[in-house]
Amino acid sequence: MNDQSPVPMLSASQLENNEGPVDNLSDNATMGELIAARFSRRGFLKGSLAVSAIAATVGPIALTLADDARAAGKSAFTFEEVEVGIDKTHHVANGYDADVLLRWGDGIFADSPEFDPLNQTPESQAKQFGYNNDYVGYVPIEGSSEHGLLVVNHEYTNDYLMFPGISKVVKDAKGVAKLETAPADQKRVDIEMAAHGGTVVEIKKTNGKWQVIKDGKLNRRITANTEMRLSGPVAHNDRLMTNVDPCGSVVFGTINNCAGGVTPWGTYVMAEENIHGYFRGKLPEGHKEAANYKRMGIPGGTYAWGKFHDRFDVSKDPNEANRFGWVVEIDVNDPKSIPKKRTALGRCKHEGAESIVAKDGRVVFYLGDDSQFEYIYKFVTRNKFNPDNRAANLDLLDEGTLYVARFDADGTIAWLPVVFGQGPLTEANGFANQADVLIETRRAGDLLGATKMDRPEDIGPNGVNGKVYVMLTNNKARDAANVNPANPRANNAFGHIIEIAEEDGNFAATKGKWEILLKCGDPSVAKVGASFSTETTKNGWFGMPDNCAVDADGRLWISTDGNSPEGTGRTDGIWAVDTEGAARGTSKLFFRVPAGAEMCGPLMLPDMATFMVAVQHPAEDGTDWKEFGRPSYYEDLSTRWPDFKDNMPVRPSVLAITKKGGGKIGV
Ligand code: FEO
Ligand code: CA
Ligand code: CA
Repeated sequence: MNDQSPVPMLSASQLENNEGPVDNLSDNATMGELIAARFSRRGFLKGSLAVSAIAATVGPIALTLADDARAAGKSAFTFEEVEVGIDKTHHVANGYDADVLLRWGDGIFADSPEFDPLNQTPESQAKQFGYNNDYVGYVPIEGSSEHGLLVVNHEYTNDYLMFPGISKVVKDAKGVAKLETAPADQKRVDIEMAAHGGTVVEIKKTNGKWQVIKDGKLNRRITANTEMRLSGPVAHNDRLMTNVDPCGSVVFGTINNCAGGVTPWGTYVMAEENIHGYFRGKLPEGHKEAANYKRMGIPGGTYAWGKFHDRFDVSKDPNEANRFGWVVEIDVNDPKSIPKKRTALGRCKHEGAESIVAKDGRVVFYLGDDSQFEYIYKFVTRNKFNPDNRAANLDLLDEGTLYVARFDADGTIAWLPVVFGQGPLTEANGFANQADVLIETRRAGDLLGATKMDRPEDIGPNGVNGKVYVMLTNNKARDAANVNPANPRANNAFGHIIEIAEEDGNFAATKGKWEILLKCGDPSVAKVGASFSTETTKNGWFGMPDNCAVDADGRLWISTDGNSPEGTGRTDGIWAVDTEGAARGTSKLFFRVPAGAEMCGPLMLPDMATFMVAVQHPAEDGTDWKEFGRPSYYEDLSTRWPDFKDNMPVRPSVLAITKKGGGKIGV
């Protein structure tokens, strides 16, 4: 893209769905021919609602569990299901309130300016809740489920929804209406940068309703300009040195923070996902990072930031892009603490970083790399979690072992160490040390023969049943020749969910078993091959699992990205999915988003009396919803949720769901 060309409209499919060119051109085994050995494609071919379809996708462990529980087994959820549909607002199950807690532009400090959408500035945005809330986490204050810190990622920005007077509808060559958005000036870029990152804000429940404590001492905005440190094995490596930072350790900002996690020691971790879009320009001819950047799709050229900030232009500061694609840790107890990019967890398009303490006290982080044919990782800390001394845990993420997953046809999973000097990760393959291995985590995965997955999103360890749930959102680029047992569907439009049981229930184990919990999509269409239980209603099935929450009872809640009126006949939402007993594979719709939105979060608070959900990019697109049927933009929005005022744009928001009269959610 040259500097004169208009900046393309940012759409969810460009920024989020990763359906662009496949970055992984490695030829490690797809095991297509082994598909018949396990999960023969019975499930795929017969599909549909039949119990046989479930039997085809679940292995011996689950069947035993299911057999044992079948007589007594009931669903863990008894709420009255929401009807699928689409309109301008959100819907929650009967008997629940879904209250708006934080909207884009809401002040989070005592001195934050009022949100003024016609006169936005970078300074005001930096004191307000950012755009496109994604991950939502909670750090309790004194163990409370009614008073704590809410942490929220702001993944990306939609300029045409945020800014007045920059977009118009034009006809393309075929006469189809499309949106054209003016190139960004520096002020707009700087507002966008301030709308990225994350928010830490104190919240409290009073008389059953949640409120933001604006003068909370720990409140904080993290942006694309916040000073951070690179720590762990890659810090100070010459591949991280830039014009601004010849030491290779000081970096400004974090971008495209998708999912994340809260660690057992109460810090907030953010996963940098689609970082490629923020870089533009052309690497100098023959530059040594060329292959590395190609593997990550850098530069993606979606945003105009590099026009005004040289570090986002790879022709001017070629190493800056190596300083993104990490997991960032923030000590929320100190609002002045410098966030750390924990390089030991590898560099890729990190989706999330949920963690759990293993039997021996080490801490295990599950990590997905969300692109087509990319891998699943886990990181096991070298040292043990110390529950009695918070400070002793603060650098646990700098030392440990990163593993990448290989799913075998016999139903076992092998976690392969991503460690310099082991197996193929040697100088002969271009790695001089562990820093090189971590900077090019994807290539290390290729060489190790990891299993190419259907876009790994959130991964949720479940401390109650000892399993791990992996969301695989879709992969339409997979064809019949390269299916593998863990990704058994060609043209996988609707995604699936894998359940992992680590050996001996030890989350730090290097092997375990796996099976498919659900193949998603419409179970009434046989060729889709979905495997929801027969108890699942027409409202209960979904496509494109994205984020997940495991609550204190071990119940699984799934949020989706990419359901649409034309695609699946429904919006995105939250579905409750049974994993145990006879009800295993039954799904029910609990909440659905307004038009154009994607569902993020979700998060159940420890007492299970509050469920936080994040509504991301409401009013995006508009053409897909027949009743609106045209591009949606600031002046002509498909919905003005949640304020519904003519002078207010649509606002991505976090909602707090509670049961009317209080009590445990979902029953
Ligand atoms: Fe940002 Fe992979 O979702
Ligand atoms: Ca996601
Ligand atoms: Ca998402």
